[in-house]
Amino acid sequence: MSKELKSVEYGLEKIFEGAQDFLPLLGTDYVEFYVGNAKQAAHYYKTAFGFQSFAYSGLETGRRDSVSYVLKQDKIRLVLTSPLGSKSPINDHIVKHGDGVKVVALWVEDARSAFEETTKRGAKPYLEPTEEKDEHGVVVRSGIYTYGETVHMFVERKNYNGLFMPGYRKWDSDYYPEPTGLKYIDHMVGNVGWGEMNTWVKWYEDVMGFVNFLTFDDKQITTEYSALMSKVMSNGNGRIKFPINEPAEGIKKSQIEEYLDFYEGPGVQHLAVATDDIIKTVADLKARGVEFLPPPPQAYYDDIPRRLGTHMDTMKEDLKKLQELSILVDADEEGYLLQIFTKPLQDRPTLFFEIIQRMGAKGFGAGNFKALFESIEREQASRGTL
Ligand code: FE2
Repeated sequence: MSKELKSVEYGLEKIFEGAQDFLPLLGTDYVEFYVGNAKQAAHYYKTAFGFQSFAYSGLETGRRDSVSYVLKQDKIRLVLTSPLGSKSPINDHIVKHGDGVKVVALWVEDARSAFEETTKRGAKPYLEPTEEKDEHGVVVRSGIYTYGETVHMFVERKNYNGLFMPGYRKWDSDYYPEPTGLKYIDHMVGNVGWGEMNTWVKWYEDVMGFVNFLTFDDKQITTEYSALMSKVMSNGNGRIKFPINEPAEGIKKSQIEEYLDFYEGPGVQHLAVATDDIIKTVADLKARGVEFLPPPPQAYYDDIPRRLGTHMDTMKEDLKKLQELSILVDADEEGYLLQIFTKPLQDRPTLFFEIIQRMGAKGFGAGNFKALFESIEREQASRGTL
């Protein structure tokens, strides 16, 4: 069976058929950002997105060269890390890439086997299997490089009952802004260089046992001016989904090229976080100052009943309310989905968040690509990078 499944066949059972089980993944463990000022970034993600103080590691816990704040909201754990002096190698990452995602950590049963299976299939090692211990037990971690300087860490915590990891203590705070309803990471997208998408698709197939279950070519992801290509990779149980984008030739500059210019290489483009109530979540985020891409034109909303067809009958949300908040709507054979995209979360036009609510649909909002990319182009034009 070809690993390249047609987009109409992307039920989870199909993914499972093509995928291999040498690397069983239980879920996303944490996502670590390298940032210039972790203390202030932590305040931003708490205040703006409703993440909660969770764990801390720094001078007070005996760590001398860097500091990490762990934030939590439902199943999502973000780790924000900054160097404490000029000698830390974290500085090089920040100088080159700005604030961005360094580690996408995956929760595994066996971090030693994960390292062995992936490195023998060609993964470049980042961290040999390493045990970390404290009075709550032991965590084993290992890591490999993926695209650019981004890393997949494998985290085995079956013999650990502490809060987060050895070396961390509980982070107490008097400031706990209300959560905004963000529940888990739905998918995480990487941008790679010109002509490199298929190299990384093959890498995820060969090294991680993933399958390519959805493909968008530059004819599908295009506007009048710019284009990109995307392939969605998934692990066997469908819990981990990594779409990979590369720029495509257009009249003007692709948003992926803008990303590569400012991140100075491949990296994580966006984290899509799931909510059960996107209207409440987005209203809340806007009230807290989170900035979203500019709204699509009226014609986009006028066309939704036609695009959704029979899904309109089951849609629980008020279309007017969705339009008021500039939330996008798309549907596939199995249901519909609601989504919206933030502006970049730092000054470089690189990483952003997507907020997504799935109502049966398993796609990625292909019907919204044109409207979405026209919004992005308007932003690019204002930055002089279109
Ligand atoms: Fe997405």
